[in-house]
Amino acid sequence: MSKVYVLDHPLIQHKLTLIRDESTGSKEFRELVEEVAMLMAYEVTRDFPLEEVSIKTPVGPAKARVISGRKVGIVPILRAGLGMVSGMLELIPTAKVGHVGLYRDPDTLQPVEYYCKLPTDVTERDLIIIDPMLATGGSAAAAIQFLKDRGVKNIKLVCLIAAPEGIDNVQEQHDDVDIYTAAVDEKLNEHGYIVPGLGDAGDRLFGTK
Ligand code: URA
Repeated sequence: MSKVYVLDHPLIQHKLTLIRDESTGSKEFRELVEEVAMLMAYEVTRDFPLEEVSIKTPVGPAKARVISGRKVGIVPILRAGLGMVSGMLELIPTAKVGHVGLYRDPDTLQPVEYYCKLPTDVTERDLIIIDPMLATGGSAAAAIQFLKDRGVKNIKLVCLIAAPEGIDNVQEQHDDVDIYTAAVDEKLNEHGYIVPGLGDAGDRLFGTK
């Protein structure tokens, strides 16, 4: 079974509270989402392996450690996932960024991919899928499946707020994908919004409400 990591660092929790607050405007909301994404990147990369290298400091030779040849891809789910990209890139600047866009077919209710552009060497990369809100989990599970269908093996899912329903759904379909979130909220409401959540993440990021 995959793991769910709830990142309870005080800075993440403090910033998440500001993000949730309805009086926080788009500019501040965007900046805070970037900052939280950066802080989350720190935890998401915690298991990256290290190797020893020989260097010379100004004082003499030293053995020191560097990240061992890890290639990373960051894949935001359009459109709200875009808000977390720059924060992640701050800490993982060599990552390549792919994009996945999905919509729900009104007849079948199944997620359909309308856009997908990935790094050409995607199968060699560890992928971090980002989407601020893990609500029903339908889009996240579908995005994970699209990436697996293209041969990707190592995938992590990062969100700001998860609903228990979304976690269950992703875990049922993808028990190899660990989930990183800053909070697990109470439930989904009848409109599919996370309660108490933060409202519509895309609208708040881009001022489209
Ligand atoms: N998407 C959002 O932006 N907010 C929610 O609460 C659920 C899905």
